[in-house]
Amino acid sequence: MSLQGRRILLAVSGGIAAYKIPLLVRLLRQSGADVRVAMTPAAEEFVTPLTLAALSGSPVERHLVNQTTGRTAWNNHVHMAEWAEALVVAPATSNTIAKAAHGLCDNLVLSLVLSAKCPVFWAPAMDLDMYAYPATRANLDLLRAMGHSVWPSPEGELASGLSGAGRMSEPEFMHRALELHFGTRSFWSGKTLLLTSGPTEESIDPVRFISNGSSGKMGEALAAEAELRGAKVRWIRGPLRRADRTWTDRVHITSVRSAGEMHDAALRALEGSDVVIAAAAVADFKPAELRTTKSPKGELASGINLVPTPDILQSLGAQRRPGQVLIGFALETGNGVDSARGKLARKGADAIVLNYATAETGMDSDTNQISLVTANGVEEGPLESKVAAAQRILDWVERNAPTA
Ligand code: C5P
Repeated sequence: MSLQGRRILLAVSGGIAAYKIPLLVRLLRQSGADVRVAMTPAAEEFVTPLTLAALSGSPVERHLVNQTTGRTAWNNHVHMAEWAEALVVAPATSNTIAKAAHGLCDNLVLSLVLSAKCPVFWAPAMDLDMYAYPATRANLDLLRAMGHSVWPSPEGELASGLSGAGRMSEPEFMHRALELHFGTRSFWSGKTLLLTSGPTEESIDPVRFISNGSSGKMGEALAAEAELRGAKVRWIRGPLRRADRTWTDRVHITSVRSAGEMHDAALRALEGSDVVIAAAAVADFKPAELRTTKSPKGELASGINLVPTPDILQSLGAQRRPGQVLIGFALETGNGVDSARGKLARKGADAIVLNYATAETGMDSDTNQISLVTANGVEEGPLESKVAAAQRILDWVERNAPTA
């Protein structure tokens, strides 16, 4: 997988995140890419053309008309756009996004977007309210509808001091996304991942339910990584207890609440799926009867009769066809490997991702430490981000999937 010789055109618009673009240029150049940079006038307030010219090794273009040769070089943008194999707009401000979505063209960057014949990638970066503004959402949808790719704008601290969604994707992410775009990683193209994630909720009465503290972050990391690698994702997702990010149409989300609903949706989606990952923290029991009115406390204190929920992974294991890869999760507090081995056999899975419930791993944390337990042994990973853990799991699938 390499960017060697790839012609990447980087269009920078005027947002504070532009200070990270020199790092992106360096990463791309280190991978052998040929990088040219264009800037809007506003971008120069945040990063100098000299810095970007020095790092890219080429003059930075800023004007619709070539300033040296004047009107004889009016068509700069056409040549640059034709040259590019990928156009990356980063950071992409709400202004540049809005203008491009509506075909406006009053600077070089916009003229490049409008003339590009290559894939266009957007890295939106703005304050959370601007990112959430309905017109911005609609403009990003317009760009997607035109076939452009919009990279996620993760949540976190923003330059304004506020915190929320709207940060630019990190240079390392953009570098990797481009590597994958140009890469030889054909394993996932044309393949479908069936993924379960999140908690389930089992109603006791109309206001109470049994559940657990699963955040769905591991599932989200798996969906995002599979999407990035070019897979189609059928994602059966329990209740999400925080804001969702946007997904391309390669990711099809089915929202469910209870284990029963997740079971039915997952089994419906099994046919035609190549890889199945059951990452959901399914509630193991549900009340034997659903009370239709809110129960008095005293009545509940005397006990609730529970019955087991269907074991989704086990049903998938029983119904899988040869060639499908099946992976389950095991969240443990102690003696994990033996129990994971037991699950491997009992549920008919190819691998169990073993993780432990601690402050830094398992539920609701942003990091995880996973071991892949298979019939051949145990592969231990380090403490790492859930994104890196997701990459580890999908790498394992690539290495171990039966070849057709
Ligand atoms: O049996 P246990 O819950 O520990 O097994 C964990 C694995 O089984 C996870 O992959 C989980 O998603 C799956 N599971 C399931 N349906 C259940 C319980 C667990 O799919 N009812």
